[in-house]
Amino acid sequence: MIDKKGNIIKPDFVELTRYAKQFSGLTTEKENVLLSIKEEVAPLLGAVTDNFYHTMNDIPEAASFLEGRITGLKQTHLNWMNSIFTGPYDETYTESMYNVGDIHVRVNLPVEFMSGGITLICNELYRITFDIYGNNPVKTQSIVNAVNSAMGFSLFVMQKSYHASVDEALDKFLLITGMSKALFEKLSSTFSTTNF
Ligand code: HEM
Repeated sequence: MIDKKGNIIKPDFVELTRYAKQFSGLTTEKENVLLSIKEEVAPLLGAVTDNFYHTMNDIPEAASFLEGRITGLKQTHLNWMNSIFTGPYDETYTESMYNVGDIHVRVNLPVEFMSGGITLICNELYRITFDIYGNNPVKTQSIVNAVNSAMGFSLFVMQKSYHASVDEALDKFLLITGMSKALFEKLSSTFSTTNF
């Protein structure tokens, strides 16, 4: 959203945190599960990041976005991976994920890269969970549930930036042209129901 002067209005991150937590099922218990394993998981996160970029480099649609940037991207990615196990999942984390989504919007990354990327990261995190805790099915189950919610939470917030950028583009168009939203909606509904 933008205001009448063209300034971007950011969402209410406290409210977005509540919303994303409800949809992803990220509870305090699950956050505590993630925090409780941070020391054991930390040494394996470098490999998670390496495998993530290795897989993406094999995807032609993704590889061109990574050219010449992989070393820097791996470092920021690893920092983010560590933050998954250190928390807290509060409005500051939500704002940072919203900004990460926004950065991807600005470099024109297709929106499906977000769900694809999170799926690849989940695959890796489940793999290391089974490697470390596979002999304890109850613990493994609780970690998989917690990782799933944390990744779902992060994806939910990143995708919010993509939707916001579409709204921003429309708001800018209305501001520049002086057209009212009501007229725009009337024109676009007429356009979409007309056979040319
Ligand atoms: C879905 C999971 C993903 C996460 C959590 C993630 C995380 C991040 C983070 C933390 C940054 C740094 C933001 C900053 O500078 O503050 C970043 C930037 C970037 N990411 Fe991702 N990323 C994801 C997916 C992808 C995918 C699938 C691609 C494309 C192949 C990609 C390409 C990039 C690029 C090109 C930048 C740098 C943008 C710039 O020029 O500043 N990311 N990402």
